[in-house]
Amino acid sequence: MNTPHFCWETLPFGIRRALMIAGFACAGASVLAGARVGAQHEEPAPSHPLFYRDILPVLQEHCESCHRGEAIAGRVPLETYEEAKQHRDEIVRMVTSHDMPPWFADPRFGKFANDISLRADQIAMLQSWVKDGTPAGDPAEGPPPLHFFGGWNIPKPDQIIKMPVPVDIPASGIVDYTYEIVPTGFTEDKWAQFSQVLPSSPQFVHHAVIYIRPPGSTWLRGAPKNIPFTAKSMNDVELQHQARGTTSDMLLVYAPGSSPDRWPETMAKFIPAGADLVFQMHYTTDGKAGEDQTSVGVVFSKQPPEQRVITLQLNNYDFLIPPGADNFPVEVHGTMPNDCTLLSFFPHMHLRGKAFEYNIVHADKTRTTLLRVNYNFYWQLSYKLATPMPLKAGTELQAIAWFDNSPNNPHNPDPSKAVRWGDQTIDEMMVGFFDIAIPASMDKEHFFIRHPQQQ
Ligand code: HEC
Repeated sequence: MNTPHFCWETLPFGIRRALMIAGFACAGASVLAGARVGAQHEEPAPSHPLFYRDILPVLQEHCESCHRGEAIAGRVPLETYEEAKQHRDEIVRMVTSHDMPPWFADPRFGKFANDISLRADQIAMLQSWVKDGTPAGDPAEGPPPLHFFGGWNIPKPDQIIKMPVPVDIPASGIVDYTYEIVPTGFTEDKWAQFSQVLPSSPQFVHHAVIYIRPPGSTWLRGAPKNIPFTAKSMNDVELQHQARGTTSDMLLVYAPGSSPDRWPETMAKFIPAGADLVFQMHYTTDGKAGEDQTSVGVVFSKQPPEQRVITLQLNNYDFLIPPGADNFPVEVHGTMPNDCTLLSFFPHMHLRGKAFEYNIVHADKTRTTLLRVNYNFYWQLSYKLATPMPLKAGTELQAIAWFDNSPNNPHNPDPSKAVRWGDQTIDEMMVGFFDIAIPASMDKEHFFIRHPQQQ
């Protein structure tokens, strides 16, 4: 992900570079409306499971967000008895190997509202259903079908904002970060309770960051609107430079497998009247040329929320991973300038990413691990705390990333190379996005002003 460095110069009061907390949105996360989440206790599995009564509820809750007609192009739909029966062996193979559903949090740390993983008894139940010859049972015993609006995993969006001009993706080579600035046309301030990024060609989208550019912001003011551009395509050196960094908040971040943002009624992201959405798209080629036209869907809060969600990040730009190192740690610390409530995490690294951890460091230097992820470049997920965690001003957060630059890492493009921070996936990144809630009347800049008695 590009640009995450916060403009420290613009921040009031001695905010130190060591406080690598910048303001960027990222995904909160969640699965489906009404899904029962986070319940990881064992339940006795029925000895002879039936599709409608026992299997379908599991597929609905753990699989259909991706495996359904319109959701992820090319993935098998798993919505009906016939579909599940047809793919029974693959289902068993994928769930017993824990390849599906995708979930990478170490279960020893933290509980997450969007934990989509299957319990051991659910895996055993899928196995016995297939062993028994996939009995259907009585459709009347099954849950009603889930209703989706097209590819959206959020309630029907109140507004869909689409990049007006599709971006051409070549068959091969590296594509520079592509931007498209799209005016919202909002004539009043809006609060976004749910939002989702929906690429038209997900196979090309390595990540998307949707920035909220308020009307007063000077960021990329000289750049064109409603058409795609890259930093290089602009003649103006200042604009080229601006493309690399902003203090604007983000609406959300998308990466393969990431969940939409779903905030409780009392919280939302703020989009001021007259704001633009700036789509920052990182496309990768996949051997066949094509085009993408990504949309963002937003469901607005019914009434103004009590709390505003902002996204910050713990970054370390300054590392050098030696050739061949198989477990190279890079860490960064930050101190919360004010009270807030911690909501969710979204670690981001590239092909050499191995593991990522978020910790609270206590005064006596002991640590509490909030999340540990066995990192998978092809599945960049967000992890939403089952119970939001109040953090006092002065709380020290730490993020640690481990990189595998050895030949044993099958994704490693070149184990003989020393690796630094860079945009492209052959370079590395170390970004620990996290979402916090602050009072609705406060904005990101004010959050960084330390309250006198809290210093
Ligand atoms: C977050 C989205 C997501 C969820 C949730 C998910 N899958 Fe998948 N699934 C995928 C994607 C994407 C692939 C393609 C795998 C790849 O390319 O690595 C896939 C592949 C599969 C395949 C191989 C056939 C195919 O479509 O490529 C099976 C079978 C499968 N998943 C079953 C399941 C089951 C069963 C569940 C629920 C228990 C589940 N998946 C949950 C996204 C998901």
